[in-house]
Amino acid sequence: MDIEAVGVSYARWAPIYDRTFGAVTNVGRRRAVAHINARGGSVLEVGVGTGLSLAHYDAGVQVTGIDFSEEMLAKAKAKVATLGLSQVVALRQMDARYLDFPDASFDTVAAMHVLSVVPEPERVMSEIARVLKPGGRVVITNHFKRDTGPLATVERVAAPLANVLGWHSDFGIERVLSEPSLSVELKSKLPPMGMMTFLVLTKDG
Ligand SMILES: C[S@@+](CC[C@H](N)C(=O)[O-])C[C@H]1O[C@@H](n2cnc3c(N)ncnc32)[C@H](O)[C@@H]1O
Repeated sequence: MDIEAVGVSYARWAPIYDRTFGAVTNVGRRRAVAHINARGGSVLEVGVGTGLSLAHYDAGVQVTGIDFSEEMLAKAKAKVATLGLSQVVALRQMDARYLDFPDASFDTVAAMHVLSVVPEPERVMSEIARVLKPGGRVVITNHFKRDTGPLATVERVAAPLANVLGWHSDFGIERVLSEPSLSVELKSKLPPMGMMTFLVLTKDG
């Protein structure tokens, strides 16, 4: 998607996101946050959206969230205020292609259902690797395309609708594995129906 389409699409999604796509993908979000809580430390959540994950972080984790969409971010800020989430240290409007943080700032970067949405995912992965401390983790949940079967056909047919849907249905996992300093530590299937993938990458120490 181009960045203007991201803005338009997620302004439309913001009012209904938590009851639709957000609700269907909650299991993966909980799994990712549990993994992060087990290590603690500082976390950057790229594409934090409406902040559905934020209440699940332990009090001992320091979470910074960024998102391009002001409308999605406004929902996240409302959750932080209403629920008094002191583990959230900042929520900022930002393009994930140009992260406004120094090198080696975070112990963990979380990217949930965002890498198949951003323009230039390879550039976003480079930025993620840059702001991660040596030995840090990238925790990803995302849908990646299949190569065979009826769902692979559906994904290919839906691909031209990316700007309408708000994500690329035919997004290949290789696009997040191109960063030389990051290697795969964990990979497993997530609900619904194993359509999503849980992926943990480690940065060279
Ligand atoms: C499908 S939503 C996922 C939101 C959240 N991570 C979740 O799991 O519910 C994708 C989010 O990525 C954000 N996004 C897309 N492109 C972005 C970019 N270049 N920089 C920052 N955020 C971006 C969108 O605004 C949207 O909030």
